[in-house]
Amino acid sequence: MRLRAALVGCGAMSRAWLEAAGRIDDLEIVGLADLDIDRARSRAAEFDLPSAFVAASVEEVLVQTEPDLLFDVVVPSARHDVVAAGLGAACHVLSEKPMAETLDEARDLVARAKAAGRLHAVVQNRRYLAAVRRIARFVRAGSIGEVTGVHAGFFLAPHFGGFREEMDHVLLLDMAIHGFDAMRCMTGLTANGVYCREWNPINSWYRHGASAAAIFDLDNGAVFTYRGSWCAQGLDTGWECAWRIVGTKGTLVWDGRDSLRAEIAGGARKGLFDEVTQIRIPPLDPADGIDGHLGVISGFVRAVREGTEPETVGHDNIRSLAMALGAIRSAEAGRLIDIVV
Ligand SMILES: NC(=O)c1ccc[n+]([C@@H]2O[C@H](COP(=O)([O-])OP(=O)(O)OC[C@H]3O[C@@H](n4cnc5c(N)ncnc54)[C@H](O)[C@@H]3O)[C@@H](O)[C@H]2O)c1
Repeated sequence: MRLRAALVGCGAMSRAWLEAAGRIDDLEIVGLADLDIDRARSRAAEFDLPSAFVAASVEEVLVQTEPDLLFDVVVPSARHDVVAAGLGAACHVLSEKPMAETLDEARDLVARAKAAGRLHAVVQNRRYLAAVRRIARFVRAGSIGEVTGVHAGFFLAPHFGGFREEMDHVLLLDMAIHGFDAMRCMTGLTANGVYCREWNPINSWYRHGASAAAIFDLDNGAVFTYRGSWCAQGLDTGWECAWRIVGTKGTLVWDGRDSLRAEIAGGARKGLFDEVTQIRIPPLDPADGIDGHLGVISGFVRAVREGTEPETVGHDNIRSLAMALGAIRSAEAGRLIDIVV
């Protein structure tokens, strides 16, 4: 089934989308739009799309190209209106994260997708990683027993410039959501409450909220702790967080890069401690979706073709957004917040 897609928002991220789209069979980019139309023109030239219609608004590209799919890569503040326009034009819509700026907006988009009978899904490229998939299979199979604690650290110091350095709650809204979504993917657990402290360190080059520490209550009684900073110089964790997942039988540790290990207790007790054994974490399963943006976009296109739901469909992925927005509300209110979608 040949599918025609329009892409809105031709800034930095659009390159990854267009590279991925170019590798998917029978998917044609028929239109590009950006408020700054020169950006759309540049992308059309860069990706050799001479027949793509170039526009300065989502409305114009929808009317002129009548696409099957809308790819939304705009800034977060424009997301709700762009997705609503796409669903209103009967498109299946795949959005960049965050899914919306507020839970009410996200709920509204979920309702619009349902009413339109169209798919609406969110890019969560950082769960489309080999290590995350291997951990998910291993942990969900009960290899370290029932999960009792999940701990993630994110320490990095990128200088982006642009909207991130100006927005509120930059770490929680723009980045931490990747870790929250990966936690959900790896454990299958859902957060139902959060207490969070957020601050902007004195050396921060962001306007607001470059560091945060959050404690989430998970639905099986376990706790997830997240500590992060976007202006922590030195000894960085990389982009994926450094993880420790503790279960009733053992522990898994992933440094966010190449080191992935697990140990379980068994056998005799020596002194204070049970003996532990290192256990093998099975390799990637061929069925596991990987490859970042290519994996997400391919999965979305496949779901449209097969009439199924993609993994990061809005009505489920709203739970990852709810973790980020719940943490923000807690930081603002200074108290524990219930997470309700
Ligand atoms: N998944 C990831 O790993 C990842 C990484 C970076 C950025 N992102 C997300 O991608 C999105 C875009 O980020 P970016 O870095 O490309 O930003 P950017 O500022 O480089 O580009 C955004 C573009 O959207 C355009 N735009 C804004 N409002 C518009 C509207 N109403 N209609 C049409 N165009 C509009 C802007 O003119 C700009 O060209 C953000 O939501 C960001 O959070 C995701």
